[in-house]
Amino acid sequence: MCGIVGYTGPRAAPETLIGNLRRLEYRGYDSAGIAVVVDGSLQSLKLPGKVQTLADRVAVEWTGTPAEGSRCGIAHTRWATHGPPTEANAHPHFDASGRLALVHNGIIDNYADLRRQLEARGHVFRSDTDTEVLAHLLGSLGFADDPIGALCAALRQVEGTLGIAIVHADRPGRIWVARRGSPIVIGVGEAETLVASDAAAIVAHTNRVIYLDDDDIAELSAGSIEVRTAHNTPVSRTVSQVDWDVRAAEKGGFEHFMLKEIFEQPESLENSMRGRLDPAAGTAKLGGLAMTPREIADVRRVVLVACGTSLHAGMVGRLYFEDLADLPAAVEQAAEFRYRNPILSPRDLVVAISQSGETADTLAAVREARQKGAALCGICNVVGSTIARETGRGVYLHAGPEIGVASTKAFTSQVAVLLMMALKFGRCRRLSREAGTEIIEQVHALPGLVRRVLELNERVARAAASLADARDAFYIGRGLLYPVALEGALKLKEISYLHAEGYHAAELKHGPIALLDPSVPVVALALDVPGRDKMIGNIQECRARGAPVIAVVTEGETTIGGIAQETIELPRCAPLVSPVVAAVAMQLLAYHVARLRGCEIDQPRNLAKSVTVE
Ligand code: M6R
Repeated sequence: MCGIVGYTGPRAAPETLIGNLRRLEYRGYDSAGIAVVVDGSLQSLKLPGKVQTLADRVAVEWTGTPAEGSRCGIAHTRWATHGPPTEANAHPHFDASGRLALVHNGIIDNYADLRRQLEARGHVFRSDTDTEVLAHLLGSLGFADDPIGALCAALRQVEGTLGIAIVHADRPGRIWVARRGSPIVIGVGEAETLVASDAAAIVAHTNRVIYLDDDDIAELSAGSIEVRTAHNTPVSRTVSQVDWDVRAAEKGGFEHFMLKEIFEQPESLENSMRGRLDPAAGTAKLGGLAMTPREIADVRRVVLVACGTSLHAGMVGRLYFEDLADLPAAVEQAAEFRYRNPILSPRDLVVAISQSGETADTLAAVREARQKGAALCGICNVVGSTIARETGRGVYLHAGPEIGVASTKAFTSQVAVLLMMALKFGRCRRLSREAGTEIIEQVHALPGLVRRVLELNERVARAAASLADARDAFYIGRGLLYPVALEGALKLKEISYLHAEGYHAAELKHGPIALLDPSVPVVALALDVPGRDKMIGNIQECRARGAPVIAVVTEGETTIGGIAQETIELPRCAPLVSPVVAAVAMQLLAYHVARLRGCEIDQPRNLAKSVTVE
């Protein structure tokens, strides 16, 4: 969604800011803007459209002017919430004096009240946004004279979420940042300081970062970083090392980030497993969980909360916990969780699954679970993200940065982590060491299996041709492959704009089968795992209605080949790891369909990489 960058140091701020803003384009946005401090005034440009358009305007309008050489500024990519993507609504926004510029991620829930109060005092607003209200509020609280005092006072008045960066014409070389529920990362450079809402924007400059805590405020200059709480108490925050470098956030020769990330999966899976499997004891070592065997044995129920692709991983996880740990498990759509009355107790473990660690609905579910006294843990990819911090313990994916909006390597790592977690829980309960060791062998085989699926890229690309012209498609599966059918359909929808439905294969005949005809292809996940025999019947049902079937089968399969229109043969694998093996093929299929349809794969329309609004 929205992205923030800031810079103060010896380099030219416009060029640095725009370069860093480009690294946030993957998050999805619809407008962009920049403000720099020049000789006691502000220069700014903002517009609907791409960062490149902003860069072109900056080149035309600022080259040869003092703005070109400014050493301090902020910039933003906006994903519209309050008001359409127009120049007026793009960030930065300004206070009444026009001397304070602010960029904001998040939503000010009480902005309408604040706006009314400010209007009553003569403030005139130029945009529909909640952000402009915050800029005016800060100005009215005396930011020009006492920035920290004004920020503390504003944080007391605003409700909602914010990550903000501010510059002021009267204070060249200074940036102020604050966060509440929306991430702010400070990059600690050599005589320069950077700001971003996502470390990917600044790793090219430094891998030393400070993640602000909620309600932290910081005043930054090229050589100093002073962090305070919202009560104006100085605090020190740890400088962390980002453990991946700029190459991880670049395409590395692939046509799209999505393809690169699909092909990274053997390594990302290895990274997710590294040092976490103990074959001798037949269990997994997940130190971040910080739970003793006794505490694990005491868990009464696991509740997995997540959205989108992470929800599908949770659906696989539920089956793992039931199967390996004999533990009742539920999967909950995070968006609904707090609007029901979830029955939770301290013996329920709520597991929040989120690649970004910033998804608003998942975060709200975490807070609801905490409120109800449940035990919490997170499965996140982004280190230091809000969900990782608020759950306080959990397992990082270590999958590396995921830039493509369509989640790929995060899904397979989530499934691998859930499998390891269920294994650990199983070993603290009823699972034997021998059974544990056998599962570890299956997990260890995963990177190799995924490599073999990736070798089928061309074959999958050919199969994609039979989907590319369709208007509608179905994906069907059973058991562990049912969530993969949902995930396959989601991947196809989001990047190729082809309408696809994921269904349990048995549910098809309870309604949707009415839609099948020769123009509606069905992708059937029919690997040689429990459920295959029933899948054969379901494939027959589809064929009887004339629907072309692309069957995803295990190599050597003979029966289904005679029924389906096309078969994609995947390597034989243990049932427990089959969701990962099948998911990689589904990712490739969606990718190639989208490519054939000429879609913008890494930044699909209307979508954002992390959904920080409800
Ligand atoms: O960052 P999260 O895992 O919490 O994100 C959840 C969903 O927004 C995300 O998985 C979304 O569905 C992806 N675009 C799917 O590819």
